[in-house]
Amino acid sequence: MILHVLAGMILTSAGASTGSASLSPQAVLAVEHRQELYVALGDARQIGVYDVASDRIVRTIKVPGEPTSLALSGGGRWLYTTCGQVDGRVCVIDTTTGRTVRDIPVGYGPVAATLDARRSILYVCNRFDNDVWAIDPIDGACLGKAPVVREPIAAALTPDGNWLYVGNHLPAGAIGAAAVACEVSMIDTATMRVAASVLLPNGSTGLRGMTASPDGKYVYVSHILARYTVPTTQLDRGWMNTNALSIIDVQAQKVLDTVLLDDVDRGAANPWGVACSNDGKTLFVTHAGTDELSVIDVDGMLAKIKDHPSKQRTGQQAASGNSSYGGASVAAVANQLSFLKGVRQRVRLEGKGPRALAVMGAKVYVAECFTGTMTVVDTAPKTIATMAVALGTQPPLKGPRRGEMLFNDASLCFQQWQSCASCHPDGRVDALNWDLLNDGIGNPKNTKNMLLAHQTPPAMITGVRPHAEYAVRSGFRHILFAECKEADAVAIDAYLSGLQAAPSPHLVEGKLSAAARRGKALFRSAGCAACHAGDLLTDMQKYDVGTADGVDKGKEFDTPSLVELWRTAPYLYDGRAATIREVLTRYNPNDLHGVTSDLSADEIADLEAYVLSQ
Ligand code: HEC
Ligand code: HEC
Repeated sequence: MILHVLAGMILTSAGASTGSASLSPQAVLAVEHRQELYVALGDARQIGVYDVASDRIVRTIKVPGEPTSLALSGGGRWLYTTCGQVDGRVCVIDTTTGRTVRDIPVGYGPVAATLDARRSILYVCNRFDNDVWAIDPIDGACLGKAPVVREPIAAALTPDGNWLYVGNHLPAGAIGAAAVACEVSMIDTATMRVAASVLLPNGSTGLRGMTASPDGKYVYVSHILARYTVPTTQLDRGWMNTNALSIIDVQAQKVLDTVLLDDVDRGAANPWGVACSNDGKTLFVTHAGTDELSVIDVDGMLAKIKDHPSKQRTGQQAASGNSSYGGASVAAVANQLSFLKGVRQRVRLEGKGPRALAVMGAKVYVAECFTGTMTVVDTAPKTIATMAVALGTQPPLKGPRRGEMLFNDASLCFQQWQSCASCHPDGRVDALNWDLLNDGIGNPKNTKNMLLAHQTPPAMITGVRPHAEYAVRSGFRHILFAECKEADAVAIDAYLSGLQAAPSPHLVEGKLSAAARRGKALFRSAGCAACHAGDLLTDMQKYDVGTADGVDKGKEFDTPSLVELWRTAPYLYDGRAATIREVLTRYNPNDLHGVTSDLSADEIADLEAYVLSQ
């Protein structure tokens, strides 16, 4: 891919060299006093040291796994990077020698390393263990663990170090609850307990980034705001997915408001990284789906929120002294496209897949995951300038990797409202229901995992699509409202059919636990294996297992694979079950879905343990 350069040059001679691995930058950290940036190069398993003066990677440091986040000690000597998956760890790197001096084991899928340099505590989110650890970065001791809601993926520490805000990537619970939305967990760092939590507005999903304002008053959170309760008959004006920023008032411990990053006729899909300028006056949000950076004037945005008609106190509220923020009034701003008009600039970036970013002075450094590039955004001039820099030699973007890029690319969608990844983040699920029109209207279906979709035809829970290839092409037509080039669809097929199952966090050292082993026997005796057969746990046939309801009554459903069920709650075609236990008890009253009524509570727990271990 040839990058368009406005100033400066593209560097290919220097930089990281990785053989066949793509650079796929995942995190950027600015070190102001050294005029350097550290860049976590995911697939390449390296940390690149980026010299700001010469705009190039001058040194690379090898790490043992794919680095996912970075933190630096106060003095700048020690660099901490989370890496690995089931074998998650924090590598402590001596920045003077580039050597890894300590390897601290942590949980599954560690991300969002956040250092409290004053108290010398490192916080790490273990995405697939659903918890957050506090670690002593010197001796590696675990000082405390806080269980959170679901896939903690982003964190922000208040400047006083008293609160760690943790963003949960996906909503938890069954569909049908009053609000289905991801939560922000507030951990009191003195006790390492979740002391409070903030539920984002109904439909919030795909939370990716967060940062605290330098004065500690606000925490900014990027996420998708899905309009999942209406049929997908249209796409324009944010009918399906909108793209949002929530502002949490730290003192009040609630959402001050949620603003949309979209314009009326142009979505700003897949908001990802969030960062503030040092003075807190400018906020930056990367849009991974549209390859843009939002540059937001914070005072202007806060003034607009304050002056919004929905925020004017009613006589009654004024009399009772209630704040006009929060509660029902949140919806009013969150429904307004172009709310940021006049206080936000959309800057086109140079590469594909901007996710991580860092701010140094007037410049913003945005790393682009699919092209292995950095766009340097200079906000000082009146017209913001951009410059593309290659972070090293990047293998050509082809095959499954190109498919992954396209799956995440909202420029393929009419008016850029969403990418396939808006509902299928990481090729998985958004934990919501959607009323797609392929099987009628008024019968929403829970989003399906892309894992094994190509290996287990037919597609869709009702089997209305003969195979996943068909579903991919009709997804473009009917969900993105766009035509897709056959070569692009083929690349997406290659990406999706190559997805590998992530090992279940319920396994113990890679093996079934004792409970899961007992559950395995029950899986056969209760008749589950008749339909959930073979390695993929499906016979690919359709049955009525007594779950069909409403418009779908009398329909048969395509037996789903049970692989990776641990990460795809809620369950059943309409997401009515929050847990596997509910599938097997509350929603199987007549033993039409395996024979479970004669099982004891312990046996149900064993069966559940087995299913969740797949
Ligand atoms: C608005 C949300 C949304 C978007 C955007 C979306 N999907 Fe889906 N997708 C769903 C839902 C919901 C289902 C399950 C529907 C059902 O079971 O009837 C699904 C199912 C599928 C399936 C079938 C999986 C199986 O095992 O049966 C495939 C394949 C698929 N989507 C691919 C894509 C592709 C490719 C794109 C982008 C072109 C895309 N989806 C965009 C919501 C979405
Ligand atoms: C007659 C075939 C059949 C048998 C027997 C059967 N299943 Fe299923 N299973 C299905 C079908 C069809 C669905 C989809 C139902 C729906 O979505 O409402 C399903 C759905 C599920 C789900 C939800 C999956 C998801 O992604 O939402 C779980 C969990 C499950 N089955 C576990 C079991 C267990 C455990 C047993 C044994 C007690 C069992 N099944 C027996 C056919 C069967």
